[in-house]
Amino acid sequence: MKYYLTTPIYYVNAAPHLGTAYCTFTADLIKRFKIMQGFDPVVLTTGSDEHSRNVEKAAAAAGKAPEEYARVIAEEFQRQWKQLDIGIDHFIRTSDPRHQAVVRDLFLRCQRNGYIEKGSYTGQYCPNDEAYVNDAQPGDPCPDCGRPTETVTEDNYFFKLSTLQDRLLELYEKQPDFVQPDYRRNEIVSFVKQGLHDLSITRTNLKWGIPAPVEGNHVFYVWFDALISYMTAVEGEGLWPADLHLIGKDILRFHAVYWPAFLMAAELPLPKKVFAHGWILNDGVKMSKSRGNIVRPGPLVDLIGADGLRYFLWREMTFGQDGTFSYDALIQRYNADLANGLGNLASRTLSMIQQYRNGAVPGADGAGHVAEASTHMCATALEAFEQLNFSRGLEAIWAFISVLDRFIVERAPWKLNKIPDQAEQTMLDETLYTAAEGLRVVTALLYPVMPGATDNIWKQLGFLTPISAVRLPELHWGKLAAGQKIGQPSPVFPRLEAAPLIEKLEDLEVIEKARQAVLMGKTPEPEAAAAESGTPIAAIAPEIVIDDFVKVDLRVGKVLSAEKVKGADKLLHLKVDIGEPQPRGIVAGIAAAYQPDALVGRKVVIVANLAPRKLRGLTSEGMIVAASLEGGSPVLASFLEDVPIGARLK
Ligand code: MSP
Repeated sequence: MKYYLTTPIYYVNAAPHLGTAYCTFTADLIKRFKIMQGFDPVVLTTGSDEHSRNVEKAAAAAGKAPEEYARVIAEEFQRQWKQLDIGIDHFIRTSDPRHQAVVRDLFLRCQRNGYIEKGSYTGQYCPNDEAYVNDAQPGDPCPDCGRPTETVTEDNYFFKLSTLQDRLLELYEKQPDFVQPDYRRNEIVSFVKQGLHDLSITRTNLKWGIPAPVEGNHVFYVWFDALISYMTAVEGEGLWPADLHLIGKDILRFHAVYWPAFLMAAELPLPKKVFAHGWILNDGVKMSKSRGNIVRPGPLVDLIGADGLRYFLWREMTFGQDGTFSYDALIQRYNADLANGLGNLASRTLSMIQQYRNGAVPGADGAGHVAEASTHMCATALEAFEQLNFSRGLEAIWAFISVLDRFIVERAPWKLNKIPDQAEQTMLDETLYTAAEGLRVVTALLYPVMPGATDNIWKQLGFLTPISAVRLPELHWGKLAAGQKIGQPSPVFPRLEAAPLIEKLEDLEVIEKARQAVLMGKTPEPEAAAAESGTPIAAIAPEIVIDDFVKVDLRVGKVLSAEKVKGADKLLHLKVDIGEPQPRGIVAGIAAAYQPDALVGRKVVIVANLAPRKLRGLTSEGMIVAASLEGGSPVLASFLEDVPIGARLK
């Protein structure tokens, strides 16, 4: 039986980040889980949402044609999903001519069935969400994103959404899991019960859209264009209707109200389920480009691995609700559950089999109470995964890992090994078999969550068939064959050292940000450009006038002392005299290039009126000026002639 699932198609006016990766990672997990359950084929679609005023504006700001701009960012998304090893089957771009034909067909179907009419709208519009805010008054903010709405008057084509209110309510009633989780379904039901307004589905105030098959210069409203991409992507493959649309809670109304309404009007089959997840928060607010608090997955994957990140996202956050991301929390979780938990179980189990049984799994049934716990754990975890309650599933699996750990400690195989008697040796066989079989079950079950790491453990357990081929019946206790030769044990989750790792992550984040900024046609921030390596010359910052320049107060200072900052390889803490009563404390990222002693007595240039900021618990009261060489290595600005302390640079 087929299973077809989708992620939203992402707007190309922001480059991919952890917030957008969250849904795509989860779709990958579900895909792998569905394959394990025996669905065939399992197909996953994602893509890029390329039209809209926001994209038109972003392209113009970058000095590019929208087509070119969209192509570059769509490629960046594709590159990102590849780097994260996400099993995408279809990447749909809404500028694809094939898609444009499907959108026009949807419109004509709705029109034929009497759901389209010409009309005029005057009211508030949220340009950020590309949505009308029907109840708002001029000056009101958007109730969803809080940004200002604009008053618009448009003569457009309208979709008669109001006529479908009863059919939609009937859908939610008859198919209670159409919208999930339940609390989101309740929100949608009460929204629809309040009454629906007709929806303007064409625009005349922008060019970057799909032309509507009507008189005049109408292009389609971006949401009328975007949703149907889920069908375009699998046209002719017999996969429609989708089994699952995975989306964020902010776009639920479009998926749970407008989308089924369009399909009803066009007499096309409806998707089976829409599941809305929560947001990844950073510093308490949604991680997003506009809030400037984005973390990019690339550096995390490079330094920690995709599996550690994936595990964290589903273990730490309840899927459906908001959750907070931080480097500290990620590293703590990784060390506690992966390095110490699963990693430790794998390495001690495999090493004992290697040492005590010459690398061959001994023949035994396994301890009864552990076998029972395994069966129970599998049932709980599988049910939780089926409901997309990943944190509960992982909790059950880790409770079982604790059972295995306790069992090993109680049996103390290292003691049994020293007693050559038959009874002790049989007991040792049973202990090792139980540990290895428990490890096998856990590893197989965790494959959808951490495909890379589990594949590694699987091979160390001596399996020759790939872990991706495992199906649910193989989770039954006792499938591990006696005599199986295990591979060479090697650590799967090396422990992470928080302080140096965070420093490196922050550095890589700056580089990644600069790379994406260039793609988006923006000038990287000076900090980012300085950190970027290998670029011949960073783009020149946008033009300023003299008034802007004089705002920056650059002064000559003399370094009085310099010392290394504890736990930060790159930072030095300097005391700099700029002629004030007290020297300034400045934290500078120059430790890799300068020995503290060599700096004492040296004249440097500092930005003296920069707002103080805290770095590693130290307040930096200014910034030291340096050129950045290839690889980010700094060279301090200095003078050939003698200059007095406190002199201003103009
Ligand atoms: N283009 C529309 C979707 C059209 S689907 C036919 C869109 N794009 S988006 O790029 O703005 O957002 C895409 C998805 O990313 C949404 O589901 C949104 O919830 C999700 N996320 C963006 N930032 C997020 C977090 N910080 N956390 C979790 N998901 C978030 O809307």
